Amino acid sequence: MNIDVIILAAGQGSRMKSALPKVIHPLGGKPMVQHVIDSAGRLPGEVRRHLVIGHGADRVREALASQPLQFALQAEQLGTGHAVAQAMPGVVEDSIVLVLYGDVPLIRSETLEALCHIAARDRLGLLTVRLADPTGYGRIVRNDVGDVVAIVEHKDASEAQRAIDEVNTGIMALPARYLREWLPQLRAENAQGEYYLTDVIALAAQSGVRIEAIQPAREQEVQGVNNRVQLAELERWYQRQQAEQLMTAGVTLADPARVDIRGTLTAGSDCFIDINTIFEGDVTLAAGVVIGANCIIRNSEIGAGTRIEPNSVVEGARVADGVTVGPFARLRPGTELAAGARIGNFVETKKAQIGAGSKVNHLSYVGDARIGKGVNVGAGTITCNYDGVNKSLTEIGDGAFIGSNSALVAPVSIGAGATVGAGSTVTKPVGDDELAVARGRQSNISGWKRPQKRS
Ligand code: UD1
Ligand code: CA
Repeated sequence: MNIDVIILAAGQGSRMKSALPKVIHPLGGKPMVQHVIDSAGRLPGEVRRHLVIGHGADRVREALASQPLQFALQAEQLGTGHAVAQAMPGVVEDSIVLVLYGDVPLIRSETLEALCHIAARDRLGLLTVRLADPTGYGRIVRNDVGDVVAIVEHKDASEAQRAIDEVNTGIMALPARYLREWLPQLRAENAQGEYYLTDVIALAAQSGVRIEAIQPAREQEVQGVNNRVQLAELERWYQRQQAEQLMTAGVTLADPARVDIRGTLTAGSDCFIDINTIFEGDVTLAAGVVIGANCIIRNSEIGAGTRIEPNSVVEGARVADGVTVGPFARLRPGTELAAGARIGNFVETKKAQIGAGSKVNHLSYVGDARIGKGVNVGAGTITCNYDGVNKSLTEIGDGAFIGSNSALVAPVSIGAGATVGAGSTVTKPVGDDELAVARGRQSNISGWKRPQKRS
């Protein structure tokens, strides 16, 4: 199939009450319209995607600059038919046109494929839905034998037509050559003075082109977002779907309503995810990972059996198997923890490789560091990686022991098996198996009298 997808996104979205164009508002961590672009991208065959922009055009263009999209500017919003017409010059000769909406984000590619298959048989595929309350929508008008013959907009509908509960979702697919013929025939002689795309339905019926109406698997697929209440409803539904997919795949969620996935979470079997956890970007959990309450995990890989204890923030980290992180730990980008490592409370790491079985258990900053295996980094240790201008590396060999409250002034290296006495400020390299003590000596003064309060 050869498909031109036209996504309409020129409307103002004034009910969002936002400086941000509506279709850029995030749902599940990505712009609403990105969901539509992605669904369309999963269609089989050769697919070109066009985005019709108008209100906030520059910001939409900027936000989607990296996308394989052709932008068509609709300078004035004269209606959905007019909007589609703006993208038609970029539509190839014998293709199928699929019309989608930037503010109807959760449409599934399976549904779109079904519509395109109808259009491939030289028909018009129309997506309709029955609603308990059809107020405001275009109504699907059928003849005596049940064939669709027209769509009447709510504002133009008679009382009898308003009683119809089958409504237009706006989503349709049809051969491009029909649109080229029909779009110029649209007239704005209606209640809203707009060029209605929906009028092509009557033109199709009059031309003897069959109209096949199908329904989406779920109503949420065709739910549009007009305000932030609807956005929040759709967000919740979307999150629920993702939670169910995870549970089906063998993950236990302490509460499926209290986990948010803003990106892609891939999880092995028997993971446990506690409440109030947020996953952003691409996150992979191997089997048996435990994520404690209130953790935020972003663009990271977590190895099998690893535990991220409560209130930890993990970003851009690669964590191997059997590691323990937190509670209250912060792993920043470039952190690599080997198997069995332990990062404890109030520890921050950045660009730090920490070897197998090594421990940084309390109150430390480890940045720009390469730490070997079996190293013990005592409480309060700081790698002084920044001199105000440059960042420098700290290297610690296998089996070293760093006493509490040490400051390791980079660039510096500490050899394998070396020991650093507590409270040291280490500025020179320490050789293998050496003891470094770099602190003021203790002196005791006997008979010392405390100062007395002046009278
Ligand atoms: C439209 C349909 C209606 C359907 C409803 C479903 C028409 C005439 N009516 O009505 O049958 O039930 O959607 O939600 O098509 N847009 C542009 N440029 C324009 C006008 C609209 O890009 O000039 C975009 C808007 O940004 C929006 C979409 O098209 O994303 C729908 O426009 P809107 O004005 O909301 O149409 P409705 O009146 O809801
Ligand atoms: Ca609408």
